[in-house]
Amino acid sequence: MERSLVIIKPDGTVRRKIGALVIEALREKGFTIRAFKEMKVSKDLAEQHYAVHRGKPFFPWLVQFITSARVLVVIFEADGVIQGIRDALGATFVQKASPDSLRGKYGIWGGINIAHASDAPETAANEIDLWTGVGGVVESDGADAEAVAYIEKYANSGVDHTLEIRDTIVKAIESKDTSDNVLRTLENLLGLDARNIDDAEVTALAEAIFALIKEEVEKSQ
Ligand code: RTP
Ligand code: MG
Repeated sequence: MERSLVIIKPDGTVRRKIGALVIEALREKGFTIRAFKEMKVSKDLAEQHYAVHRGKPFFPWLVQFITSARVLVVIFEADGVIQGIRDALGATFVQKASPDSLRGKYGIWGGINIAHASDAPETAANEIDLWTGVGGVVESDGADAEAVAYIEKYANSGVDHTLEIRDTIVKAIESKDTSDNVLRTLENLLGLDARNIDDAEVTALAEAIFALIKEEVEKSQ
């Protein structure tokens, strides 16, 4: 049976409700959960996971982003699960993702796109080897129940500031505002959506988003 490795990225894990809604949506497609682990990703593991992108201009930022705050690693299993999850997530860049897709609904901006998903059987196998090896992810019969408990705990928790966060980013880029006010606003909005997340992780995620804003503004000058 086909498997796919999904990582709910820091923007989907800090914003607990969003991560829970994404996992719930994928589970409701009939994809079975075989492993479920919350963890902070080391720089080394992040670089190995994204090795295919090493040397590209966005690689250092990608490593900064994925290591900024905790993630949720989930192994799904079902026939056609790889393409099924990629279709449900939508296009890589949030502004290009269909509004019906998970990234279109809940993604933040650009590559701050709530989840990674394996893109082919061979990469899925390699990713599952990596994350169950050095990543310490363990497959277990209880993984689905853990995911259900997570969904119950967080899917209806709190409010969702996706639109305000997007608006903050778009306005900052349009007005070329890279002042600390933007960083503080992002930190506050993310903090409102965070549940059981260390403040330092909220700050680190806000900094990763802010770094992308600064890059965009620099590009436009
Ligand atoms: P993923 O690997 O995370 O599932 O995403 P993907 O297949 O849809 O996209 P991929 O091309 O593999 O890129 C991996 C992640 O890198 C970030 N990215 N930023 N600034 C950029 O040009 C850029 N390009 C890619 C995104 O977070 C993307 O998901
Ligand atoms: Mg990819």
